[in-house]
Amino acid sequence: MGTSTFRSAVVRTPNGPDSIEIVDVPVVEPGPGEIRVRIAAATINPVDLAVASGFFHTAGLIDQPERTGLGMDFAGTVLAAGPGADLAVGARVAGAVIGFDRDFGTYAEQLVVAAADVAVVPDDLELVDAATVPINGLAAAQIVDLLGDAPASADRLLVTGAAGAVGGYLLSLARDRGWQVTGLARAEDEEFVRGLGADFTTHAESGWDAVADAAALQEQAIPLIRDGGAFVGVRPNGEPPTERGITTTAVDTTPNGPRLAELLARTASGELPARVHAVVPLEQTADAHRAVAKGGVRGRYVIEP
Ligand SMILES: NC(=O)c1ccc[n+]([C@@H]2O[C@H](COP(=O)([O-])OP(=O)(O)OC[C@H]3O[C@@H](n4cnc5c(N)ncnc54)[C@H](OP(=O)(O)O)[C@@H]3O)[C@@H](O)[C@H]2O)c1
Repeated sequence: MGTSTFRSAVVRTPNGPDSIEIVDVPVVEPGPGEIRVRIAAATINPVDLAVASGFFHTAGLIDQPERTGLGMDFAGTVLAAGPGADLAVGARVAGAVIGFDRDFGTYAEQLVVAAADVAVVPDDLELVDAATVPINGLAAAQIVDLLGDAPASADRLLVTGAAGAVGGYLLSLARDRGWQVTGLARAEDEEFVRGLGADFTTHAESGWDAVADAAALQEQAIPLIRDGGAFVGVRPNGEPPTERGITTTAVDTTPNGPRLAELLARTASGELPARVHAVVPLEQTADAHRAVAKGGVRGRYVIEP
């Protein structure tokens, strides 16, 4: 690798893990308010598999003539700061690049990103752990914003996909707003769910005041909610049809540096989970995607580019 290029995992003709290639791309200097980061860790999320499969290309939501970048979450160190970017070279930071119609991603040795969108990683948190937090921690925090404060006598919240990344954060964060939380997950996930202070079920009956649908059960979740209750989903612009006065919304996660800093601090203290299944080099991205596609993985694959 020359000093003027860096390696990045991309898809040119998206067709699942087999289509993932490692290419050299030119180094870009940070503009005003931006930083250039040496990525130490990039998390594999379910959405990255959908990008690599061509799902969003087919849907007309990605239009990249040459290549599409992979990966949203990252943690690393600042290599260079553009004018007005208030972060020192060498600072340890984490963040997420949101959206997927782009020719760069975080499965790469470097990234240029807005300084306002990242947070400094606490000294006692490893970058590999920090990289698992941004997109899913912020998604959970913003789902809780959509739920709002629990009404005093209608505070029973069901979190679906409670053993997943978003679901795990929700178990903890929803309590901050007064919700009595029950996690819906597989039988083998009981210890994890209860360990975060939530009740546990493998099979939810109807009557919940609200559902936070991190498993993307979508229309299957609506019958679980009482008349006039609330549904918050994870598919923006894809809320299921409503009935019986149920309100439906969906999170569309946005970057938020200060909020991310809070989530990282709560991860460093052990209050929020940091679950890493395996750490792999950039060359093993395709294999890691294949493993995630099989389902049932708990904790994240993290790429060390
Ligand atoms: N809109 C946004 O801005 C945004 C942001 C972040 C994430 N998301 C979306 O949020 C969703 C959750 O993300 P994630 O990273 O948390 O995914 P994840 O870690 O894969 O978690 C999903 C969990 O749901 C479980 N699950 C699926 N169907 C289930 C069922 N019928 N009963 C019980 N458990 C079930 C899965 O278990 P198994 O593995 O055993 O199937 C898994 O534990 C994804 O769809 C993701 O794309 C959206």
